[in-house]
Amino acid sequence: DDYLWFEGVPLPSLGFKPEIIRELRDNFVVKDEDIVTLSYPKSGTNWLVEILCLIHTKGDPKWIQSMPIWDRAPWLEAENGFMSLQGMEGPRLITSHLPFQLFPRSFSSSKAKVIYIIRNPRDVSVSGYFFWEKMNICKIAKSWDEYFEWFIQGNVPYGSWFEHIHGWMSMRERKNFLVLSYEELKKDTRGTIEKICKFLRKKLEPEELDLVLKYSSFDAMKENKMSNFSLFLRNDSTILLRKGVTGDWKNHFSEAQVEAFNKTFREKMAGFPPGLFPWE
Ligand code: A3P
Repeated sequence: DDYLWFEGVPLPSLGFKPEIIRELRDNFVVKDEDIVTLSYPKSGTNWLVEILCLIHTKGDPKWIQSMPIWDRAPWLEAENGFMSLQGMEGPRLITSHLPFQLFPRSFSSSKAKVIYIIRNPRDVSVSGYFFWEKMNICKIAKSWDEYFEWFIQGNVPYGSWFEHIHGWMSMRERKNFLVLSYEELKKDTRGTIEKICKFLRKKLEPEELDLVLKYSSFDAMKENKMSNFSLFLRNDSTILLRKGVTGDWKNHFSEAQVEAFNKTFREKMAGFPPGLFPWE
């Protein structure tokens, strides 16, 4: 059905290989200097990567404007990302959507800094519906209603959102693990970037922070062909940078879907303390 199924997790079929996923989990060495962006797809991954790149250059846009985002922070589990990480020297920026159980085991003894970005799964589902259709690297839903069902069942790229969250949130007390939400990044971008700098132990001057904000904004990213995916997606900059807002799900969920989602969320997330998810 157009997926690469790996130990029960549906992965995109194009650009992924089971032997690489296995090799990664068992033998890939996460280095202490690495900085890893982790997420369930469509949670704001690329926004966070752009911010991390700009923090690295202290707001200088030269790097983000001259090298594609997937080369600056390779996608660990994709074949080409895995290849380019092999030869990379020094501190690496790494991007991954892998669920916890498939992530390199070496992480458990590493001091690498990991940022897990989460987003209201309702918005994640709507964003994914429009994205995967255009990406064309996995099964495509005939309608929003069909995709909604698939999302609830976990029959979408990277499997169940709920399981992804359960797996990774179990790491949230670790010192080298930071959980951020798309919602807080939207609401207080500056404050959240400061939080990231503190976590990474990087100091930015106020004017450098201004530059990070300027060049990582939705409009700036949409203009930047190195970041907006238009290089490989039919020259279309709206595929990744679609709306960039919170709450768009309200324009797509029917009343029955709102109820069904609330019920599933309550059931599957029952073990988490109240207040953990800013959108609930
Ligand atoms: P929408 O489809 O809701 O617009 P990912 O990078 O994990 O694939 O996530 C993509 C989502 O993040 C898209 O959501 C995209 O618009 C949003 N996004 C990307 N860059 C952004 C930015 N600079 N500001 C706000 N949202 C951004």
